[in-house]
Amino acid sequence: MTRHIPKAEIHCHIEGAAPTDLVRSQAQKYGVDMDHLIDGDRFVWADFTSFLEAYDAAAALFRTEEDYALLAQSYLTSIAEEGAIYSEVFISPDHARLAGLSPEAYVNGLGEGIARARESHGIEGRLIVTCVRHFDSEAAIDVARFAAARPHPFITGFGMGGDERIGSHADFARAFDIARDAGLGITTHAGEVAGPDSVRDALEHVRPTRLGHGVRSIEDPALVDQLAQEGIVLEVCPGSNVSLSLYSGFDEHPLPALMEAGVRVTLNSDDPPYFATSLGTEYAIAQDAFGLSDEELLKTTRTALEAAFVDEETRSQLLAKL
Ligand code: ADE
Ligand code: ZN
Repeated sequence: MTRHIPKAEIHCHIEGAAPTDLVRSQAQKYGVDMDHLIDGDRFVWADFTSFLEAYDAAAALFRTEEDYALLAQSYLTSIAEEGAIYSEVFISPDHARLAGLSPEAYVNGLGEGIARARESHGIEGRLIVTCVRHFDSEAAIDVARFAAARPHPFITGFGMGGDERIGSHADFARAFDIARDAGLGITTHAGEVAGPDSVRDALEHVRPTRLGHGVRSIEDPALVDQLAQEGIVLEVCPGSNVSLSLYSGFDEHPLPALMEAGVRVTLNSDDPPYFATSLGTEYAIAQDAFGLSDEELLKTTRTALEAAFVDEETRSQLLAKL
């Protein structure tokens, strides 16, 4: 039981946080057949490619400002009920645009949802604008420009998700430069479905302070040393990693070895209903499968807050809650 441990999450994709019930009701609302992609309380996918396809199809069913307000509100309140005090959600204006929603309406809806959850449950939230690696890199520049203009006060970071097996971070360096120059925090997915070379590529071209996943750095001890030395924070998502078969089970997962090597780690759910997880479940996995003590769990929360893309006053207030 980890309900009593204050939690913070810095890696969850809002489109990937919509539970099957909600996606089913959105499908009904818009007259879209999703039966092939939803089976009971499970999304249907078999590998990383079909996972991304199911994710993109579900995202296409959120089409209005209020759809997103409800999604953000329900996600943040659900994790607040598991003990979360802070949440950074990854958002994707490209997905909104493909669903016919303007980026402005998209972030207004998400911001409204975060404000409602703060009001009812005291949870603080921020938005990390992401570009998508398997979309085109010119689109990423538009997304970065949008984020850099700070269209909503909750937007504090910039990152990239999508298919890591495609291309290089070099293709997106300009987008990341635009975001960094605007003062946004930088994170990116690397070291998930690709290995240490992909992590080095990310570090070289976009200079993130955090990495989405990063777990496959473990395959190169020199890289692990570099992450530890430079204090790069890993947004680790163990349930996602095992679900996507990066590892055959939690006993194969490198989180304990990364901690042992002095790498700063956090616990996150990534796309919770796709991986039958939640933030609370990730903390429980860390306790039960990796043997983390309450103190070590609390340390991961502290690390998440230290690495969070928030103003210093908010950070101090959040850290005081630990
Ligand atoms: N987008 C949503 N979930 C993702 C993941 N696990 N890896 C890369 N991109 C994603
Ligand atoms: Zn992710």
